[in-house]
Amino acid sequence: MFRLEDLPEIDSELAERLKSAGLNHPLLLAVATAEHLEGCGLGRAEAIELMGKTREKLDIRFQTLREFADRIYQVSRISTGSRYLDDLMERGVETMKVTEFFGPAASGKTQLSQQLAVNVQLSEGEGGLGSEAVYIDTERGFSPRRIEEMARAKDLRPREVLRKIFYARADTVEGLFEMVRKAEKFLQDKSARIVIVDNLAGPFSAQFDRFRVHEKQVLTQKLLFRLLTYGEVYNAAVVFTNRVYSIPDAIAAESLHPFGGMVVDRSVHKKIMLRNQRQHRYLARDFRSDRETLFRIDEGGVSDL
Ligand SMILES: Nc1ncnc2c1ncn2[C@@H]1O[C@H](COP(=O)(O)OP(=O)(O)OP(=O)(O)O)[C@@H](O)[C@H]1O
Ligand SMILES: [Mg+2]
Repeated sequence: MFRLEDLPEIDSELAERLKSAGLNHPLLLAVATAEHLEGCGLGRAEAIELMGKTREKLDIRFQTLREFADRIYQVSRISTGSRYLDDLMERGVETMKVTEFFGPAASGKTQLSQQLAVNVQLSEGEGGLGSEAVYIDTERGFSPRRIEEMARAKDLRPREVLRKIFYARADTVEGLFEMVRKAEKFLQDKSARIVIVDNLAGPFSAQFDRFRVHEKQVLTQKLLFRLLTYGEVYNAAVVFTNRVYSIPDAIAAESLHPFGGMVVDRSVHKKIMLRNQRQHRYLARDFRSDRETLFRIDEGGVSDL
């Protein structure tokens, strides 16, 4: 893949300006908006031409961004620890895609997130990618003790497993954007192959009331697009968790809905709803196909029932 500076239209000064505006990769530039580029000091016509040139060099033309990335990289998969849950998601959590786990409190969202941060470290034969993980925590739900417990259950060295998880907290929307941006450096050198955000909705719900829905949607879409692009460019999995809200007057039995609605849906490849049944039993349902399966979470982490 070429760099921004490899385009004749971009000198080092412009490259710097683009990078500080968050457009640090040709793929991001190719799908930016003219307004975004105008913010970097380019005129409108210039901006449109530059995006066109970038797309040309990327050979995007009539292909979609995803098809382009598919050609270069191969999708890899990370096991959740449960074969049935993996099957529900077409053999595990995929790289280059965004996977959403949503559900009410105690439905297993954080447990699954932590399990994936451990499992990505396993060898390919064991369901991992032999890689590290980026974990962005917006609700202080991450537990190093729990990671150690899960590591021991997989016969991994607990300390080493913890060291291979790049952990960051984000309490605000700005903080979340910053951490996502910083995550890129761990993906760039190919050390990390998964970015986990638990919980994506948290900071948005805290900062935007119902009168600022549009602003919230625009920012959510931006964040997800950035995550998806990182996933595609660096062949990494993107996983985020999401809260649900209930519609009081819903007649349907299933009245729980994930935050974000259609804006989130567009960027998400798999959308899995979780429920805590009794004891160690958990239910996962593919939101789109309505297929479902049971799995287990116990002291050792996620496994089959
Ligand atoms: N060490 C453990 N052994 C067995 N089960 C555990 C262990 N730690 C947590 N759990 C189970 O995991 C469930 C909590 O799941 P989790 O923290 O993933 O919920 P969540 O969906 O993230 O909820 P929230 O929305 O509140 O963050 C609890 O019901 C608990 O029984
Ligand atoms: Mg949680």
